[in-house]
Amino acid sequence: MADPSSRAGTRYASAQILDWVARTHHPADAGLNRAFVAPAAHGMPEIQLGPAEGRLLELLLRLVGARKVVEIGTLAGYSALWMVRALPPGGHLWTLESDAEHASVAREVIADAGYSQQVTVIEGSAVDILPKLSDSGPFCAVFIDADKARYDRYGRWASANLRDGGLLIGDNAYLFGHLLEDREDAGGMRRFHQEMADHFLSLCIPTPDGLAVGLKVPRDA
Ligand SMILES: C[S@@+](CC[C@H](N)C(=O)[O-])C[C@H]1O[C@@H](n2cnc3c(N)ncnc32)[C@H](O)[C@@H]1O
Repeated sequence: MADPSSRAGTRYASAQILDWVARTHHPADAGLNRAFVAPAAHGMPEIQLGPAEGRLLELLLRLVGARKVVEIGTLAGYSALWMVRALPPGGHLWTLESDAEHASVAREVIADAGYSQQVTVIEGSAVDILPKLSDSGPFCAVFIDADKARYDRYGRWASANLRDGGLLIGDNAYLFGHLLEDREDAGGMRRFHQEMADHFLSLCIPTPDGLAVGLKVPRDA
């Protein structure tokens, strides 16, 4: 019997195959390319999503007809640009970033791409900002990509502030390979998975570091 774990990852994809399918399905876009290289250009950590994960976010948001979206962890705005592309006119993305320089670079990148009106970069820790943001909800999607030890806390906020049929998405859900270890961030990440599994229709997509995705289903569904 085939080992089910071998279905995870990219067993059959060479770098050339990955490059060809990326160019075929989501060809390069100048605004996105500028956002992708912005962390390196500004001496920031290069920890943004990959292009296929960005495209996946765009696709997921379009599938649920997202209008109002929250992102926790902006960096230079790469994932934010993928997500705002999915929104209709009048839709809005609030993206939260604790590092002042990251927030400033992201504002520039987002303005260069022409999306300043639809994206608000809020500077500060998500722990402080999220309670104030509740008034702008309910939201159609929440994407978590910041401090890993607090994913459970952010997930609970999302659960309370998403509309029925809304999406909760968390990157680095394998915690760089440390998910099952006895450490604080791993405990928080495991609680995030468990609470998502308990309250959402969910799965963890085997991207390089796991992308947990949950659909908030109505209580009586
Ligand atoms: C992995 S990066 C985000 C990458 C971005 N989503 C992308 O793919 O382009 C994580 C970001 O979260 C920010 N961050 C860390 N802790 C935070 C917090 N408590 N509140 C808001 N942002 C935080 C970091 O400064 C960093 O810029």
